Amino acid sequence: MNSSPIRVMFFCLGNICRSPLAEALFRYHVEEQSLTDRFEIDSSGTGSYHVGAPPDPGSVRVARERMGLDISGQRAQQLSPDHLRAFHYLVAMDRSNLRNAKRLTGASQANLVLLRDFEPHDGRGGDVPDPWGGGPDHFEKVYDIVHRCTREFLDYLCQQERL
Ligand code: 4NP
Repeated sequence: MNSSPIRVMFFCLGNICRSPLAEALFRYHVEEQSLTDRFEIDSSGTGSYHVGAPPDPGSVRVARERMGLDISGQRAQQLSPDHLRAFHYLVAMDRSNLRNAKRLTGASQANLVLLRDFEPHDGRGGDVPDPWGGGPDHFEKVYDIVHRCTREFLDYLCQQERL
């Protein structure tokens, strides 16, 4: 396959809790569908507080326990206007993230979407709740939402991009 990869960026506020899980889970679904060569996948945060930091221990733990994946090597980065230009799809974890990203460009962009718009169950259009500072159950809940919505998002992309 020689067509250029589809670039997908997941983003939240800190890039240490939710979007690292979204990046890892989406990559997991992509690999399961043997579509690895068709995608470039990344994550970021609208805030700069945690730039360079590894994912939160709560996200590292849930990824290891539920997926057997080690996400501890990821490092947080801040979402930039360059990202908004370079990525085909930028996927916000909540509506506040989406507003912050729109402020970066001063315009609404068609490539900005909300993860829970791909919710197969109740809760479409809602937020992935921020688990920062919460207990393991908060991270379990995030995992469940992000797992099913990234799967649904990939199905959408497969149709949209004719994969
Ligand atoms: P995230 O969680 O956006 O899912 O990475 C947060 C991490 C840090 C902060 C807020 C949310 N913070 O305020 O530092």
